[in-house]
Amino acid sequence: MNKVFLNLGRQPLANSFLKDIKKKTIRNEFFYNLKICFNTKNYLVSIINPVNPKKQYTDKYAHRASESKTMRLAFKKISKKLLKRFRPKKIMEIGSNDGIFLKNFNKKSVIAVEPCKNLARITKKLFKTYDKFWNLKLSNRLIKEKKGEIDLIFSANTISHIPNLKETFTGIHNILSEEGVLVIEDPSLIKVFENNSYDQFYDEHVYVFSSISINNIVKKFGLRLFDVEHLTTHGGSNRYYICKEKGKYKKSSRLKKAMKKEISYKLHKIETYLKFSKRVNLSKKKLYDLLIRLKEKDKKIISYGATYKSTTVFNYCKLNSKIIDYVTDTTLNKQGKYTPGTHIKIISPEQGMNDSVDFAFLGAWNFKKEIFKKERRFLKKGGGFITHVPQVKIIKNK
Ligand code: TYD
Repeated sequence: MNKVFLNLGRQPLANSFLKDIKKKTIRNEFFYNLKICFNTKNYLVSIINPVNPKKQYTDKYAHRASESKTMRLAFKKISKKLLKRFRPKKIMEIGSNDGIFLKNFNKKSVIAVEPCKNLARITKKLFKTYDKFWNLKLSNRLIKEKKGEIDLIFSANTISHIPNLKETFTGIHNILSEEGVLVIEDPSLIKVFENNSYDQFYDEHVYVFSSISINNIVKKFGLRLFDVEHLTTHGGSNRYYICKEKGKYKKSSRLKKAMKKEISYKLHKIETYLKFSKRVNLSKKKLYDLLIRLKEKDKKIISYGATYKSTTVFNYCKLNSKIIDYVTDTTLNKQGKYTPGTHIKIISPEQGMNDSVDFAFLGAWNFKKEIFKKERRFLKKGGGFITHVPQVKIIKNK
């Protein structure tokens, strides 16, 4: 039974940065209602009416994973670790982006699946790439082309983006070798609760998984969760290790511990979700009031990092260019554009992080450490960062 517990209102697609803010462009902007529900049977948290993926994963997809040093290092590390632990001969990635993970392997042993054609074009030059959505049909095609029997299927920040879990996992089961392993990474629900980071909910995150929900879901498709690892990426993620039902892997003690923690946190009870919703409402009010108070004192506020997450915050909290002067972002193809729904200009940090800035809202709060290191001068000169994670506050140099 799905129960709606959070309504984040009318939202645009999180990555639909606008080229201009002419009347016609604004008139054509796509919006949907972002409501989140909890399934009381399998404990799955999801968007109630997800957007059609064909609208989201186009040949203009903005996110290039390799642009972040933190992510490059993280994927290098995990590829080494997986090679050592499972010694796979054939590897496939679902949602390979610009090849950040697969380029760490022998290119003859890998297959990439990436529906965004602009990204697939990059990896096609390096290794076998299917510019398709992952589904049952594609898994059957791989079998026909004798590319089945995959020993390691990896997917980071992608499985939670695909509405149809039945097609996803049946397709995976189809092509996974008998002792093969599926490794998926996605934002962690318990971390969202601990951080009060409601901005993990946006159109692409159709699901925010927990160990207890993944355990229930994969069971239905002849698969079994046997291990989990906690990661710091994307503000707190989980890496789930899954094998076939009869696979040789035993349930790890860290998985038992993680599931126990989720149960003691009451992630299986609707009451927890209703309480979270109240905290989110309060966070919205606090952030809006703080920004208005600073604005009344003539302070200049900008935002740091044109993230997908801040699309949710800006639209939910009704923050526009009257409150936030502009957003800075290092990504070249975001610069010169405008934020989805709220139409705030995005410029480079070189241009935007100058002495006239009093406060910077941490849109990229998941890179807080990296940003504070980079912006030591701003903090030293009395500048302040504003965050809503885990609660609304100003962070200044002590
Ligand atoms: P990301 O972490 O992928 O968040 P989301 O999934 O919510 O979009 O995006 C981080 C963004 O922040 C990315 O566009 C790059 C930008 N950024 C900066 O502008 N400066 C920085 O120092 C860092 C670390 C990131």
